[in-house]
Amino acid sequence: MPRRRIDGGATQPSRRNANVVIAFVECHSGYIMIEPPLSIESLQARAASELNQWTGSAARWSAAAPGRVNVIGEHTDYNGGWVLPMAIDRYTVLVAAPGLQADRIRVRSLSLGEQSAVSLSRLSDLSDDKWMRYLQGVLAEYAHRAVVCPPLDIVVASSVPVGGGLSSSAALELAMAHLIEAVTETTWSPSERIRAAVSAERDGAGVPCGIMDQTIVEQGEQGCVLLLDCAQGLISSTIPCDDPQIAWLVIHSGVSHDLADGAYAQRRAECEMICEALQVGSLRDVTPEMITTLTPDLPALSPIQSPIQSPIQSRLKVPFDEVLLRRARHVVTENQRVLAATEALKTANWSTLGELLFESHHSLRDDYQVSCEELDVLVELAQAQDDVFGARMTGGGFGGCIVALVDREALSSVATSISQGYVQRVGLSPQCYRVKPASGADVCAVFA
Ligand code: GLA
Repeated sequence: MPRRRIDGGATQPSRRNANVVIAFVECHSGYIMIEPPLSIESLQARAASELNQWTGSAARWSAAAPGRVNVIGEHTDYNGGWVLPMAIDRYTVLVAAPGLQADRIRVRSLSLGEQSAVSLSRLSDLSDDKWMRYLQGVLAEYAHRAVVCPPLDIVVASSVPVGGGLSSSAALELAMAHLIEAVTETTWSPSERIRAAVSAERDGAGVPCGIMDQTIVEQGEQGCVLLLDCAQGLISSTIPCDDPQIAWLVIHSGVSHDLADGAYAQRRAECEMICEALQVGSLRDVTPEMITTLTPDLPALSPIQSPIQSPIQSRLKVPFDEVLLRRARHVVTENQRVLAATEALKTANWSTLGELLFESHHSLRDDYQVSCEELDVLVELAQAQDDVFGARMTGGGFGGCIVALVDREALSSVATSISQGYVQRVGLSPQCYRVKPASGADVCAVFA
């Protein structure tokens, strides 16, 4: 799996590009804590000032959307399953003014230090800039339903790390959806926006994603984690999570993930093969007992060795090998873990929730095989800490971040110990973020 080490993994914090917007960075011995997060207002002010310098125009409209952390329920959304994510207090903010060039949407990204443009009359010609495709895809979805944007000049400022598995792309899509609505004085429902953003991701960026990211980025609630039923596309439960005893620590491995490179699509295709073989509509319909029957000889969470022979295989419609059984086992057990985690969260049973997080990671590592060495090292280091209840990779995998549930009082010492261990074992200094559950996307200003 090709992975890229991202810049910023140096042992000292660096501002590689004067245009890069990063939050106030505290450098402790061995780790970088990005704290406190930049507010929407300060991101908006930076973007507005850049817009003014670039085009001479004053900001007219602005919209913002948060990133997300998935507490548990990974690779279950496109299998009609359960997920337990929260929107977080890291944001992507768009600020716009009427465009100076006819037929163009021009966009400058402060976070990436790049600029791109698309033609409004040729929205289906995919931009060479991948990040621009997310915006283009959303514009195209609105245009299909006759909501056509006038030319715009836009500046993007963001505190959501790119390639970190924290849904920077969904944040960009939903901020764009709200911006289009502010500019065209249109109002779509949250589910229409979510649909548009999911299509933009699937068609524009080529990732056959599920609905989790766009749903939580649009519908997140301040101070709460949401249980989503992805079969129905509904919020099944809203769970307040404001216990001062705990904190959510996100640690970026310094390895960026790229979901469009095929492995994500391959996992999804494997799940479809399993459904075909078992003659079920989705893996939501598969019970843990079915998996146990199918996998009598499958060792628990050990590296894959040889194809297994199971008598029940004769009942299957297509060949079913051990890899597929492991994929199925992950999804089925992960759904159970999400429901158990929801109960643990409701009753503030942190040790049980923590155990479920570790189990989820091991299942993603061994059965679903979407982790990587760097994430495994971070989780191992977290597991060795007394003040960590649990930890796991979060998001699609292959790099990006882990999320750890930590005793609030020990947050700083935990971040230091894990980071020092990581520097020693991997040679990268990770970035740490304390995140809090936040509200979903919204228009944040229409200036007179
Ligand atoms: C990515 C996708 C989501 C989901 C996760 C894995 O973030 O966009 O739809 O499948 O991976 O849980």
